[in-house]
Amino acid sequence: MQQAAMTMAEETADDWWEVEALYDLCFAPGRSALSSYRLRDGVPPIAPLCITARDEHGILAGAVRNWPVCVDGKLAVLLGPIAVHPTRQGEGVAAMLMRQCLAVAAEHGWERVMLVGDGPYYGRFGFEKLNGVEMPPPTNPDRVLGLALCEGAWDGVAGLVTQATDCK
Ligand SMILES: CC(C)(COP(=O)(O)OP(=O)(O)OC[C@H]1O[C@@H](n2cnc3c(N)ncnc32)[C@H](O)[C@@H]1OP(=O)(O)O)[C@@H](O)C(=O)NCCC(=O)NCCS
Repeated sequence: MQQAAMTMAEETADDWWEVEALYDLCFAPGRSALSSYRLRDGVPPIAPLCITARDEHGILAGAVRNWPVCVDGKLAVLLGPIAVHPTRQGEGVAAMLMRQCLAVAAEHGWERVMLVGDGPYYGRFGFEKLNGVEMPPPTNPDRVLGLALCEGAWDGVAGLVTQATDCK
């Protein structure tokens, strides 16, 4: 795979609509109807984990945003949405964003990360199916994946994923 030359940076307020436009392009219409968006409503994203990737001309190639959620009384990072512009896919941009985002999450002391996505893709970053962790319906349980940033961080953690405000 050809590695793209990209600059990654924390998303700024000026980036917001450009990232929204990228997500509108990359996801099916009605993306905000997904149950994961209900967990994000009214909750600020985790700023250092919202990252853009721009090419050498400053053109947005990809972006990832992350929100906190609560599972079993414990905070977790809900990773995503992540998207890469169709003209830049297959160059490793998502992999760079994923690795950066997971490194920054660990630096900031986050212990566990989860997402809803394709196991065959996210497995390469260490994500595995989370048994017993339930996203609000309708979500295919096979697509609920987790990664422990500290050993055992998901051990015994189970139940419905709710808004971060439920974690006191
Ligand atoms: C998924 C997405 C972010 C990947 O971005 P990318 O920059 O092309 O990814 P990378 O270049 O890091 O990785 C490409 C590799 O992942 C594979 N891949 C991409 N999507 C995949 C999927 N859904 N399932 C399995 N493998 C996948 C590609 O086949 C390619 O494989 P290779 O390394 O063997 O060639 C991008 O395709 C995208 O924006 N898709 C639309 C939005 C979306 O679905 N986001 C994810 C929501 S869970």
